[in-house]
Amino acid sequence: MSRINRQWVVAARPEGPPRPADFDYRETAVPQPAEGELLLETRYLSLAPVMAMYMSGAPIAGRPPLEIGDVIHGRGVGRVIESRHPDYQPGDILHGQFGWQSYKVTNLPADDRFHRFTATDLPAHLALGALGMTGFSAYCGFVDVGEPEAGKPVLVSGAAGGVGHLVVQIARCLGCSPVVGIAGGPEKCALLRELGCDHALDYWAGPLDDDLARLFPDGVHLYFDNVGGEMLESVLEHLGNRARIVLCGSISEYTRDEPFGPRNYTRLRRTDASMRGFYVYNHAAGFANAEARMADWIRAGKLRPVQHIIDGFEKMPAALIGLYEGSNTGKQVVRVAAEREE
Ligand SMILES: NC(=O)c1ccc[n+]([C@@H]2O[C@H](COP(=O)([O-])OP(=O)(O)OC[C@H]3O[C@@H](n4cnc5c(N)ncnc54)[C@H](OP(=O)(O)O)[C@@H]3O)[C@@H](O)[C@H]2O)c1
Repeated sequence: MSRINRQWVVAARPEGPPRPADFDYRETAVPQPAEGELLLETRYLSLAPVMAMYMSGAPIAGRPPLEIGDVIHGRGVGRVIESRHPDYQPGDILHGQFGWQSYKVTNLPADDRFHRFTATDLPAHLALGALGMTGFSAYCGFVDVGEPEAGKPVLVSGAAGGVGHLVVQIARCLGCSPVVGIAGGPEKCALLRELGCDHALDYWAGPLDDDLARLFPDGVHLYFDNVGGEMLESVLEHLGNRARIVLCGSISEYTRDEPFGPRNYTRLRRTDASMRGFYVYNHAAGFANAEARMADWIRAGKLRPVQHIIDGFEKMPAALIGLYEGSNTGKQVVRVAAEREE
């Protein structure tokens, strides 16, 4: 059977949230692996909020920014179908930088963005969720940067998203209490309670000030922020003494022309609080530990990864557009190869 490499490329720079006209579909020949290379077939592709920024020409760590006509940058998981590398066999599952395409040639080990998926008793699409960069962001950001303490409260925004729904469950596994998640709408809040949140706050229902004051009488102790913007500003008004804020993401700001703020950052001063960002790729030394702990919690039934899987490579643009409308619950993934379930 002849193979075709299906690709989505940048057609135009998004202005605000991406629109269908920003994406172009094309078909090309499947690349052939040279000596030392592998040919990979994409099984699942990840959708991440940062992708619209990449389409807009924002720098990508270690690579030139995307040009019009370039294959869109994004992580995937797939299997080796042809190997000209002694350490990899057809059938091996790898996750890494596939781009929005159905086949990819990679040169290992020079391309260090590929990792072998080792938890083969668990579904391979988890390599794009709890057992890949999303999970490593949740674990390394929350545990290594946030330094949570058992018995102490935790607040998480974007809590029903890919990173957030893992952070609230890691907090439960580590004995933090209470664990409070913020999400948009009653369904996502119900899911958060199912996942073990002591309280779920629906920010669509109105300002969070009264809830934050009621749930954190001594102030917020540890805030894991996925959202930025107005929500971060609200939380800054409710900090406890020596509070810590982990800046994971600011999804509410990615499609704005001008950054929002926050205007009240000086609240950090009065409480001796700290706000610290992190970039997951700077924490590679912690990935193996994060993967092992997350996999153990999943096997023990203590952590339930929620994967929002959409079928069909043709749905990639719609799936990305949906992220900025909050249409995903848990990690948004597209199934590209429909041949068999992992
Ligand atoms: N620092 C790092 O190295 C690193 C690594 C990975 C990810 N990130 C960042 O972490 C954040 C979360 O990533 P993710 O993969 O979990 O994304 P995600 O799955 O899209 O989840 C983010 C959630 O944020 C909520 N949201 C969207 N727009 C919002 C708005 N305007 N105001 C409030 N909430 C909004 C949505 O749910 P609702 O329906 O609840 O609004 C969405 O489900 C992103 O900002 C991402 O860029 C950072």
